[in-house]
Amino acid sequence: MTAQDRSATSSSQPRRGVLIAFEGGDGAGKSTQIARLTRWLAAHGREFVVTREPGGTELGERVREVLLHGGAVSARAEALLFAADRAHHVDTVIRPALEAGQDVITDRFMDSSIAYQGAGRALGADEVKDLSLWATGGLLPDLTVLLDVAVDVGAARRTGHPDRLEAEVGGFHERVRAHFLALAQAEPARYLVVDASLPSAQIGQVIADRLVATGWFGSGT
Ligand code: TYD
Repeated sequence: MTAQDRSATSSSQPRRGVLIAFEGGDGAGKSTQIARLTRWLAAHGREFVVTREPGGTELGERVREVLLHGGAVSARAEALLFAADRAHHVDTVIRPALEAGQDVITDRFMDSSIAYQGAGRALGADEVKDLSLWATGGLLPDLTVLLDVAVDVGAARRTGHPDRLEAEVGGFHERVRAHFLALAQAEPARYLVVDASLPSAQIGQVIADRLVATGWFGSGT
């Protein structure tokens, strides 16, 4: 969808909401920035939904348990399960909210599959992207905020027992990080890359400045 489509309004067709995805390695601080963004959106009078992948639906929470805290899952099965979670999430939560004019903020979306399964697991980024696009019916975020964090810094920030993906070693997380950055570099208009080691308030300001610049939220206050 173009910015022109988004701003087109008519009495019978509500303005579509904006889809913002947060991505990044483990320990990048996505939750903190999502909480800040919800306050910003509320201050701008927006209605919004905050959700996450994997999870975000009842089915998704069950898939999440299997993917993150269950036993072995083969690489292809893992990619398909993340895609199944996403398909259901888009059909039952994200698309209905956008069509009702609500903004949607999602903690992870298709780029996590491309980076973790495509690059991390070396399944092939193009194949995993196609799988994800099929799952979402072609829906892409309007903006993806990539909180970029060095792998050792992210790992040090983590608390608790590592989940199945966090526990990966042998260059896995380096490949994930490099691929996230490559995705952002390829499409700068659809991405905002922020250094996740900056103070939280500064990161929040960079994100707010970018959103103001889009013009999606009115006059830019
Ligand atoms: P989560 O607890 O949400 O981690 P974080 O707080 O870092 O977001 O766990 C999600 C994990 O699942 C994370 O390690 C990334 C991984 N993941 C994939 O491998 N592929 C995907 O498509 C998604 C959505 C997540």
